[in-house]
This record gives sequence, structure tokens and C-alpha cells, in this order.
Amino acid sequence: MRLDYLSIFPAYFDVLDISLVGKAAINGLVEIHAHDLRDWTHDRHRTVDDTPCGGGAGMVMKPDPWGEAFDEIIGTESDPSVHVIFPAPSGTPFTQSAAAELSSAQRIVFCCGRYEGIDHRVIDYARSMWTVHEVSLGDYVLNGGEVAALAITEAVVRLVPGFMGNPESLAEESFSAGQDGLLEYPLFTRPVSWRGLDVPEVLMSGHHGRIASWRRDESVRLTRERRPDLTDSDSSGIH
Ligand code: ADE
Repeated sequence: MRLDYLSIFPAYFDVLDISLVGKAAINGLVEIHAHDLRDWTHDRHRTVDDTPCGGGAGMVMKPDPWGEAFDEIIGTESDPSVHVIFPAPSGTPFTQSAAAELSSAQRIVFCCGRYEGIDHRVIDYARSMWTVHEVSLGDYVLNGGEVAALAITEAVVRLVPGFMGNPESLAEESFSAGQDGLLEYPLFTRPVSWRGLDVPEVLMSGHHGRIASWRRDESVRLTRERRPDLTDSDSSGIH
């Protein structure tokens, strides 16, 4: 899998070197390329923004540098196997199933906007050429797409076959199919007693049936309490 990042702050992606994603890059599982969008400007100030057409506050990212960057990084041919991601609060909510789908992509290009956003023709152009995803990380506003791109990267790359040492741990975590659409149950390890707090007795009983049923009850309780929206869906394990 090849990952490209287009940003006016490409140093954000230096942290990938110290993450497990960086290890996956060393092992040849992924290839990482961070680009400075200003490399495709031609004026003395390396300008990437301009005032919004129609007026309003803030600045909008100009289309020209994006277009030239696309030509050089992706090319000028249409190819639906190239996935281009625009993180934005106005995007579709990013989910575990979206991460799973992207984990089989050969090529993902992250376009990280700043200021009020990117000229919409950039997104329309990309959509006419490649597979575009406008993605939101949640109902809050970040200063730009970089942190969202890092989060999406981590969610996707850990699902790339060969990334996880023990793929069984993928099956049991929150939001995966193995959890029945429920949140993960609480975890404990030794010591059995710590600062007056004990590991639930059932987990030390060695009784697999009772342990499984305790974990399931805890998952249901937590999901009802914290994410009632998940219990409404047909795919939830609460009926
Ligand atoms: N850029 C700014 N805010 C964002 C959000 N909530 N999700 C994704 N990208 C963003």
C-alpha cells in the first residue's frame, strides 16, 4: 500500500516514523510519502489560499497547487483504484468498516485542507478521476486535515494483512464484527489486588463459559450506557 499526504505542514507525518506504521514501512508493507503543497506554487510567497468567492470570513485553498500536485503525484489518468481522501468536518463519518474497506487499497492519497477549506472544484476534479472519500472524524472542528489523516492512517494500516502480529486481537475489539457491534468489555491483568481494587472474581475462576457471559453482559451494559445509538442498529448484538 502506498500512502501520500498533501499538506502545507508535511512535518506532521514525521511521527509516522515512530509509530507501528513506520515499522510497517520498514518491513515494506506500506510506503509513505509526505509532500509540501507549497512546492506546487510559483509566486514568491508560495501562496496557497485566497479570499472566498461570495464573501465571508477566512480564506479558501486555491485549486491550482492541488491540480499540479495531483498531476505529479498521481498522474493525469483516471484510475478508480486510487483512493483520494479529503478529511473535513462536513464529510461522511469515518467508521471501522470504512477502515476495513480501505485496508485493501493499493494507493491512498490524503489531501489535508487548512483555513476554511479547499476550493470545491479540487474535490470534483478528483472525483472525476479517482475514488474520492470526504471523511469526518467526528462532530468537532480541527484546525486542518493532518491529525484526521494520521488517525485514518492508523485505523487503516493496522488492518493491512501482515501488520498485526496476532490477528486474533483484531476480532475482539470495539466495532469489529467479532464484537457483535458492541463496545469492548473492561480488561484486567495482574496483580489480582491493586490499591484496594480487585480483579472481578469471575475472571480468575477459570470457568470459560462464565467469563464469556460476564464479558458479554459488560459489553451490553457499556454500549447501552455510552452508545445507545449502536444498540438501535439491526447489526447490534442486543435484541
Ligand atoms: N478537519 C477539520 N475538522 C475535521 C474533522 N472533524 N474530521 C476530519 N477532518 C477535519
